[in-house]
Amino acid sequence: MAQMEEIKPNAKVMIVDDSRLSADLLRQIIQPMGYTVAIAYDGQSALRMIEQEKPDLILLDIMMPHIDGFELCERLKGDERTRLIPIIMITALSDLSDKVKGIEVGADDFVTKPFNDTILFARIKSLLKTKYLNEELENAEMVITSLALSIEAKDPYAEGHCERLSVYSSGLAKHLGIPDEFIKALKRAAMLHDIGKIGIPDSILLKPGPLSAEEWQIMRMHPIIGERICKPLHSLAVTLPIIRHHHEKWNGTGYPDGLQGEAVPITARILQVVDVFDALTTNRPYRTAMSKEDALKTLTLEAGKGWWDREITEEFVKVIRAGKL
Ligand SMILES: [Fe+2]
Repeated sequence: MAQMEEIKPNAKVMIVDDSRLSADLLRQIIQPMGYTVAIAYDGQSALRMIEQEKPDLILLDIMMPHIDGFELCERLKGDERTRLIPIIMITALSDLSDKVKGIEVGADDFVTKPFNDTILFARIKSLLKTKYLNEELENAEMVITSLALSIEAKDPYAEGHCERLSVYSSGLAKHLGIPDEFIKALKRAAMLHDIGKIGIPDSILLKPGPLSAEEWQIMRMHPIIGERICKPLHSLAVTLPIIRHHHEKWNGTGYPDGLQGEAVPITARILQVVDVFDALTTNRPYRTAMSKEDALKTLTLEAGKGWWDREITEEFVKVIRAGKL
C-alpha cells in the first residue's frame, strides 16, 4: 500500500449526494485523510463531472431526484470508460434490500450513516488499491496486445487478420449461444493467439518456402510460448486454453497436446474454423484469395476429414451464407 500511495498521493474522491449537509459532512471526514474531494449534488451533474474530473473513487447516495444512486451506479459500471472506478454506496443502517439492489447494479462496497471514520478510511484505501492494481493489469494487457499486433505487422499478408478473427469468432460464438465470458475470451484470443510467434526466429516465421521438419518443430512451439507469456495475467485466464489449443484438430492430429474431439475447448474449435476461413479468403504469397463460397467448401471438406468440429463448421457456413457475418 505504501508503494501505491507514492504513485497516487492525491487520489480524487467524488461525493454524489443531493443533501448539501451530508455531502459537506462527508467532505469534512475525507479531506483530512489526504484525498482531493469533488462534490456533485445530483446524478446528472455527477455524470458530467465524472467525465471531466475522472475521480478515483465515488461515494454515492441512493435517494436522489431524477437519476438515483442505483441508476447512476449501473450506468457507470456499464460504461467501458468508468467501469473501473470503485463505488461505495451510502445506505441506511440495516436496509438489506438497498444492499441487494446495490450489489445487483455493481456497487463495490457500502457504508452506513452515521459514518465511522476508521471504517470509511479503510474501505476507501482498500478499494483504491484494487483500482490501481486493475489499471496496472489493463495496461499490461494492452502491452501484450500491442506485442501481438507487432507480430501481425511483420507479415504483410496477415494485415487485419486479428481484427477479422475477432469479428468472426465473436459473431459465431453469439450465434451458437456461448456465454458472454467466453465471447470476451474469444475476442482477446483473436488478438493474442499467435503471440507465441514472438519466440520463433524470423528466418522460420517469414520463410517463403516450405519449412523443414526441424523448423516445423520450432514453429509448433508457438501456442505453448504464447500461453506462457499470457499466464501471469489473471484477466486472461479464460483466454489461455484458446491460445494453447488453437492448433489442435478434432481427430487428435493437431498440436501441442494432440487433444481429440470435445477435449479441445469449444472456444478453440470456434477460433480454428474462423481462422481457416480467413486464411483461405485472403491473399497469401503462394496463392490468391479464394471466394467466400469456395472457402466454405474447402472448410467443409476439411471438417469431413476430421480436422475441424463439423457442427461448428456447419453453423459457420450457415451464418456466412446468410450474410450475417
Ligand atoms: Fe497459430
